[in-house]
Amino acid sequence: MWIAITREVSPAMARCELSFVAREPIDIARAADQHRDYMHALETLGCRVVTLSVQRDLPDSVFVEDVAIVIDELAVMTRPGAESRRPEVASVAAALKKFRPLATIEAPGTIDGGDVMRMGRAFYVGESARSNASGIAQLRALVAPHGYTVQGVPTRGCLHLKSAVTQLSDDTVLLQPDWVDREPFADYRIIDIDPAEPHAANVVRVDDGLLMPASFPRTRERLLGAGFKVISVDVSELQKAEGAVTCCSLLLREGKDHNAG
Ligand code: GLY
Repeated sequence: MWIAITREVSPAMARCELSFVAREPIDIARAADQHRDYMHALETLGCRVVTLSVQRDLPDSVFVEDVAIVIDELAVMTRPGAESRRPEVASVAAALKKFRPLATIEAPGTIDGGDVMRMGRAFYVGESARSNASGIAQLRALVAPHGYTVQGVPTRGCLHLKSAVTQLSDDTVLLQPDWVDREPFADYRIIDIDPAEPHAANVVRVDDGLLMPASFPRTRERLLGAGFKVISVDVSELQKAEGAVTCCSLLLREGKDHNAG
């Protein structure tokens, strides 16, 4: 069983950080409806959804993935690359501390959870505008004692590593070759996105199920053709905030509760 930590959409989301997406008006009520559909999809895939209360003045706070990296052994609270996002960390730490021991990334390190892709015990971390060498080195020092490796991977033309590559199964990734090299992922089976859908590489995997945006039907067909079970959700308003589906949840395995209080 999985726990999915999520947070309600902020009414200030129109003031979100944007890096590679042009600003457009965001319909906040519609974004909140889409976010509810997203949480229902996570439940359909077998998650217990824990929703944190809204942070009205933090525009990007729905994108909880960026503020923590959670493994069975601990939760690493990040220091997000965008200064406006750093106040999001404390309340997610308060939620996570009942499930995992906490560690933290310290200045001058920066790292966004959206840059962190894990395949088994191998972490791949985007060397992006949001995640720097110090942040990556700190993550390595924190997880190596638990048997994990950490490899930096350059990205180009996208916000996060997980804009460019995500996990589909234990041995398969979905990849956007314009935004990341294939070479770091050569040990895995690689499925390319459909080239007409450049933003389609970000999907949530929950066991043998996938959740992806409804706006990428061609890539969805590829995944169905490869035998994957896929749920599609309309997240168009969240995409205007440069959000993807992994950004909206932190997944952690249930049954690893930490009794630190
Ligand atoms: N708007 C998502 C981010 O830039 O972090």
